[in-house]
Amino acid sequence: MKFRVYRYDPELGQKPRMQEFEVETHRGMMLRDALKAIKAQDETFAFRHSCGEGVCGSDGVNVNGTNKLACVTAIADLKEPIEVRPFPGRPVVRDLVVDMTQFYEQYKAVEPWLKRKEPTPEQEILQSPADRDKLLGPQALLTAYRFLADSRDQASAERMDFLEGPYKLFRCHSIMNCVEVCPKGLNPTKAIGHIKEMMLKDSV
Ligand code: FES
Repeated sequence: MKFRVYRYDPELGQKPRMQEFEVETHRGMMLRDALKAIKAQDETFAFRHSCGEGVCGSDGVNVNGTNKLACVTAIADLKEPIEVRPFPGRPVVRDLVVDMTQFYEQYKAVEPWLKRKEPTPEQEILQSPADRDKLLGPQALLTAYRFLADSRDQASAERMDFLEGPYKLFRCHSIMNCVEVCPKGLNPTKAIGHIKEMMLKDSV
């Protein structure tokens, strides 16, 4: 199958280009396998991957215009030529490898850990299934909601204060782009809506 892959090495001082590769595919082959096959053809080609099970998110790439995790994307479902580009919106370090510094800074900014006013007990803090049902998934605002909805966390007011202002929660215009492209099928827009509701309730 034909692949067109984004190549860029800022150290070489050349413009980014698309390079064609021919990869022999097999039944059940995933995009990550194809990228490994490309790497075997050209050692200088760079891409990230780790778990191979759709968990770590390190192999997020843009395939034929859609963001996907390469390890859980079946080649058979893709149209040829398969065009693979780096994950958009982040500076390219090399080829498909992007700089994730800002992503981790944003993630850290929402303080994604339980905060308790009561002393931390020796053992785990148990939670009922009903409490847990309110929780949603990852990254900045989605993670913020994960802790706001956690009955064991006791810093809701501080968390909501932090999310005030035009460049955090209210920067989201609910156009659902994140939901559409999320390779893990998560719904940050819904979580953001929940936080907005919480803030409204808190202000009346
Ligand atoms: Fe971890 Fe794909 S390699 S999600």
